[in-house]
Parts: sequence; structure tokens; C-alpha cells
Amino acid sequence: MGLLDRRAVANIIHQGGTILGTARSTEFKTSEGRAKAIKVLQEAGIEGLILIGGDGTFRGGTLLSEECGVSVVGVPGTIDNDVYGTDYTIGFDTAINTALAAIDHIRDTAVSHGRLFFVEVMGRHTGFIALESGIAGGAEELLIPEAPLSVDELCFHLEENFKQGKRSAIVVVAETEQPGDSFRIAQEVKDKAGFDYRVCILGHVQRGGSPTARDRVLATKLGAAAVRALLEGKGGYMVGEIKGKVAYTPLRDTWEKEKGLDNQLVKLAEFLSD
Ligand code: F6P
Repeated sequence: MGLLDRRAVANIIHQGGTILGTARSTEFKTSEGRAKAIKVLQEAGIEGLILIGGDGTFRGGTLLSEECGVSVVGVPGTIDNDVYGTDYTIGFDTAINTALAAIDHIRDTAVSHGRLFFVEVMGRHTGFIALESGIAGGAEELLIPEAPLSVDELCFHLEENFKQGKRSAIVVVAETEQPGDSFRIAQEVKDKAGFDYRVCILGHVQRGGSPTARDRVLATKLGAAAVRALLEGKGGYMVGEIKGKVAYTPLRDTWEKEKGLDNQLVKLAEFLSD
């Protein structure tokens, strides 16, 4: 790849993914791996780095900066939205809208055929995607790690729903350590309450596609703020957005501290499913 100047980033605003070809690296987690990266930076005369990613990226960036003194600024970019120091991460809005479109499509079959569906969304260890796409999609039930529901409770809720005249239901499930676990949960529900079911794992379709307007604006705003921060010598921070304003959080805090779900939204989802 050549110089990343203005021309190099022309006409990509509507694309998903990354033109940089960056991806997770297990090698970078070792000090030997980072030493290799440091050598590359030094040979290229790079004094400052802008890191786009989630907690893993920022953890690696913090260590890299400590080990070689290069100035780093983080920009939160992950569909999971689980980064401390920003209300939203770049990619989250696109992912929830992709999940929402899928939930809407599935609802057509669920209603027509009077079926129970389990729709599994991404989110790693957190329920951000499930919570917002589930509420927006009118899911009857949500299974998220932050507000666990036992199979007994889930069966009870579904039975109550059906007693009250519902003919179909959609359960949005946040993937856990074990993506695909919805199949086990759905089967347990069937064994216990007899509901026939279908499972749909949305998986990596949530990771791509043309970004929403909201994501594009956020990325533009935070990208510009990151460049400004580097130029002003404000290394060691992540630029995020809190209550609509650019906010600077020490890079270490972004992966050491935990960002929780909006508790009021969790309560609202519980209220709606009762
Ligand atoms: O961290 C982003 C994420 O999309 C998670 O939501 C998901 O669990 C994971 O990445 C999938 O990773 P991979 O593409 O390596 O399977």
C-alpha cells in the first residue's frame, strides 16, 4: 500500500470492511510480535498512530506505545459497542440496522406460520446489539448476558404470551462464549414446553454492508478529532462521543474499565416482555 493521502481514501465512504486489510493478530499479543511492529514503525519513521478498533486494539496500542514511545490515539470501531469512553462505537448502528432488517424479515414467516423463532445476534460478551435490535424489532423476549433468563422463565413468558393470544414469537439471543448456543437453548425450550422452533444465526452478515448515515457521520467526526489530537500532541487517548460531544478518555481506561448497558433500556425490555 502506498501513502494514505486524501486521494487514497476517495470513494470509500459507502463501503463496509477496511481497505487497510488489518485484522486480529495473535502474534501482536506477544512482546516479540510487538517488537516486529516497532521495527516497522521505526524504519518508516512513524511517530504517531491512529488505532481504529475495540478493547483488544487499544490494549495492544497501549502496550506498543509504552514499549516504544510512539504516540497513539484510539478511535472506537467495533460492531459490539462495548468500549468504555464512548456512547457509540463506529459500526454498531450499521450492525443493529442489519440485524433489525433480518428480524423484520423473519417476523413475516413467524407470523404467517405461527412459529417461535430464535434469532442469534453478535456482540461477543455483551448484549448491546441484542438489546437495541431486539427492542427495535419488537422481539417478544431477549436473552442477554447482563440480564440472564433461565429456560424455565423463558418457557413461562412464552406460555403466557401464547395464552394471551399470540401466535408467534421472536426471541433475540446475544451470542455468548459459544456462538450457536441458541440451538441448545431452543431445544431445551422445546423439551420443556413443547414449542416447535426455528433458529437463525445472523453471524457475519452483521459485520459488513454499507454503513448507515449515523455511522458515517460518527466516523468522520471521530476521525477528524483523532488527527487533531495527534497534531496537538494529545497521545494516549481515545476519542469517543459522549452525549453528542467529542470526549477524550485515557486509552488504558477504555479496556480496563467496563461499559455497562443502559439500565433503563434493559428494564424497558423486561417490562415489554412481561
Ligand atoms: O468483536 C466483533 C465481533 O464481530 C463479535 O461480535 C463476534 O463475536 C466476533 O467479532 C467474531 O469474530 P470472528 O470474525 O473472528 O469470528
